[in-house]
Amino acid sequence: MNSNGYPASSFKIPTVKFTKLFINGHFVDSLSGGEFETIDPRTGEVIARIAEGTKEDIDLAVKASRLAFDHGPWPRMPAVERARIMMKWADLIDQHVEEIAALDAIDAGKLYHMLKAIEIPATANTIRYYAGAADKIHGEVLKPAREFHAYTLLEPVGVVGHIIPWNFPSIMFVSKVSPCLAAGCTMVLKPAEQTPLSALFYAHLAKLAGIPDGVLNVVPGFGATAGAAICSDMDIDKVSFTGSTEVGREVMRAAANSNLKPVSLELGGKSPFIIFDDADLDKAVELALMAVVYNKGEVCAAGSRVFVQEGIYDEFEKRLVEKAKAWVVGDPFDPNVQQGPQVDKKQFEKILSYIEHGKREGATLLTGGKRVGNKGYYIEPTIFSNVKEDMLIAQDEIFGPVIALMKFKTIEEAIKSANNSRYGLVAGVVTKSLDTANTMSRSIRAGVVWINCYFAFENDIPYGGCKMSGFGKDSGLEALHKYLHVKSVVTPIYNSPWL
Ligand code: NAI
Ligand code: MG
Repeated sequence: MNSNGYPASSFKIPTVKFTKLFINGHFVDSLSGGEFETIDPRTGEVIARIAEGTKEDIDLAVKASRLAFDHGPWPRMPAVERARIMMKWADLIDQHVEEIAALDAIDAGKLYHMLKAIEIPATANTIRYYAGAADKIHGEVLKPAREFHAYTLLEPVGVVGHIIPWNFPSIMFVSKVSPCLAAGCTMVLKPAEQTPLSALFYAHLAKLAGIPDGVLNVVPGFGATAGAAICSDMDIDKVSFTGSTEVGREVMRAAANSNLKPVSLELGGKSPFIIFDDADLDKAVELALMAVVYNKGEVCAAGSRVFVQEGIYDEFEKRLVEKAKAWVVGDPFDPNVQQGPQVDKKQFEKILSYIEHGKREGATLLTGGKRVGNKGYYIEPTIFSNVKEDMLIAQDEIFGPVIALMKFKTIEEAIKSANNSRYGLVAGVVTKSLDTANTMSRSIRAGVVWINCYFAFENDIPYGGCKMSGFGKDSGLEALHKYLHVKSVVTPIYNSPWL
C-alpha cells in the first residue's frame, strides 16, 4: 500500500528518453539553456526536466518549418507517398503502445489500462484515417454563368502552429497533426507544459517513419512565452488551438494583431446531459456518471450539467449516488482503479474551490467533495443536487469529477435549460422516443449531440463546438479542410470579350 492507502503499483515506469526540443529533425537544447520540470500527479514529484522553449526557439522552429514548406519535399511529393510515411508512423506507434501509454499515465495521471487498450491505439488509427484521405484531396469543377472554365484547387495553408492541452496529450497531438500532415502542411506544435513527454516520443517516431526534417517541430514550453510566440508569429499561416476560453481569446487577439492568420479554437464546455422519464434507467445512470468522471472529469466534452425528468428523478439520484460511492479512485497504473489523480496542483485546487463554492451557494452535496488520501491530486467523485441554473457550479467549466444534478418537467423546459449556457460543445440525451430524440437534437445549440450514448468519438465524426466553445472541427474530413486553402482558377473558353 502507498501513502494514499491504495495498492502500490508494481508497474515498471519506463525511463524518459526524450526531454529536448525537436526542431528541424533533431533533439536540441533550448537556446537559453532553460528547463522546466514535469510532475507526476500521483505524488507531486518530478518525473523529468524538459528543455523549455521560448520565443527564440519558436523562431527557429518556424524557420525550419517555413523552409520545409516553401522548398522541401513534403508539400510537393505525391500524396500517396505522404500517406505511406504516415502509415509507417502509425505502425511504429502500434509497436510502442505500452511505452507511450506509460508516459501519458505518469505525466497526466490518466489510467494506464485505458491508454494501452484504447487511447494510444486510437491515435495510430487517427493517423491512418487522415493518411487514407491524403490522396483524395481535390477541388471542384465549377459552372460559371458566362463562358469560363473554372475550377478550385485545394492547397495546403502553409506553416501551421498547434497549441494543445494536457487532458488528452496523445489524442490532441494526432488530431491536430495528422490532418495537417495529410494536407501537405508543415508545423510547429507546443504541447502543454504539464504533459510534454508523449509529444516528444511521437516526434522521434515521426523521424524514424521518414517525415522529413522541419515538417513536424515539437517545442515544449509555457503558454505566455512559447504559446504566445506562435500566435504572434508573422510567418505562421494558421493556428489551431485547444484549451481554455480565456486563452482562446488571447490567441485570436494575437492573430489579429500580427498577420491576421486564421485560427480555430476548441474551448471546453459545460455540456448538458438530459435524461427523460422513458430512459433505460441503469443505462442512464451508467452514462451520466461516465460523462463526468471519465478521465477524472478533465474532458472538454464532460456532461457536467445533468438534467433528469421528474418521474424518475428520485430513483435516478439514488442509483447515481450508489454508483459514485463505489467508484475506485487511486493509482492510474492499478488495473482495478477507475479514476486517477487530477493533472496538477492548480487543477486540483481549482476543482476543490468550486466544490466549496457549490456548498456556499446552497447546493446539496450528496456524495464526495473531498480529496482522497494525503498525497497526490486525487478527488472523490462529487454530486450536487438542488442546483440552480444560475449557480457558478452550473455555469462554469469545472474540469473535474463534479456533477450538477437538476430536475425538469417538460421537454420545453429541458431545451431551455440545456441552452442556458455560454458554451455549446456537446450534449447527451437519453430517451426511447424517436420524437423526443429528434426534437432535442435539433433544438440544442451544440457541435455534437449523443443520443443514448456519450463520448462516442470516431475519426469520421466531426468534433468541435459553437458559442463560447469555439469554432472549427478537430475530427472527420472537416478537420482536413482546416488545413486547406481554396484557390479558384478561371480561364475563358472562347475568346471572351471580358479579357
Ligand atoms: P490553458 O488554456 O491555459 O492551456 C492550454 C494550452 O494553451 C497549453 O498548451 C498552454 O501552454 C497554452 N497557453 C496558455 N496561455 C497561452 C497564451 N497566452 N498564448 C498561447 N498559448 C497559451 O488551460 P489550463 O490553464 O491548462 O486549464 C484551465 C482550464 O481550461 C481548465 O480548468 C479547463 O476548464 C479549460 N481547459 C479546456 C480544455 C479543452 O479541452 N477544451 C483543455 C484544457 C483546459
Ligand atoms: Mg506532468
